[in-house]
Amino acid sequence: MKIGIFYGSSTGNTETAAELISENFSEHDCSVQDVSSIEPDDLLGYDFLILGISTWYVGEAQDDWIDLLEDMDGMDFNGVKFAIFGQGDQLGYPDTFQDGMGMVYEKMIAGGGEALGFTSTEGYDYDESKGEIDGQWCGLSLDEDNQGEMTDERIENWCKALHAEL
Ligand SMILES: Cc1cc2nc3c(=O)[nH]c(=O)nc-3n(C[C@H](O)[C@H](O)[C@H](O)COP(=O)(O)O)c2cc1C
Repeated sequence: MKIGIFYGSSTGNTETAAELISENFSEHDCSVQDVSSIEPDDLLGYDFLILGISTWYVGEAQDDWIDLLEDMDGMDFNGVKFAIFGQGDQLGYPDTFQDGMGMVYEKMIAGGGEALGFTSTEGYDYDESKGEIDGQWCGLSLDEDNQGEMTDERIENWCKALHAEL
């Protein structure tokens, strides 16, 4: 299976998570790319996309995702399975925690993609998030700033669930 892991990361937290996630898919043809150095069409041609985004400036997508999200309008992701992971800070930004995840989700669903890897919101303390869809995270929610000790286990469990879903 051809898997594309794409991330945007300002201080390296989402990048580190992307590398950890890729280790869990090493049996596949898996590439990890920074969205700051891709064209929108580079997202195409994969069986499974894993998309990583952090949230910045109180509810904004990470810088390198901003233009890409606009360019994704009208793109065709029919038949493409995708999963999203995010980095955020639930204590610092409880009203916009992981909003970036929701922004990516919206574009992929609009393009006809099929979302995998929803997870429970239990164990997080926040008020509002665009990344919460029907009471669940629309992917994997990571918080390096407050719950960094949980990251490895969260990634491992998520990747196991993705393998089962695929
Ligand atoms: C100025 C600033 C604004 C931020 N705004 C948000 C936010 O609105 N929501 C959120 O969940 N996290 C927010 N964060 C936290 C970052 O998303 C978090 O530190 C994340 O781990 C950064 O990941 P990155 O290094 O991969 O970009 C903010 C951080 C800073 C410094």
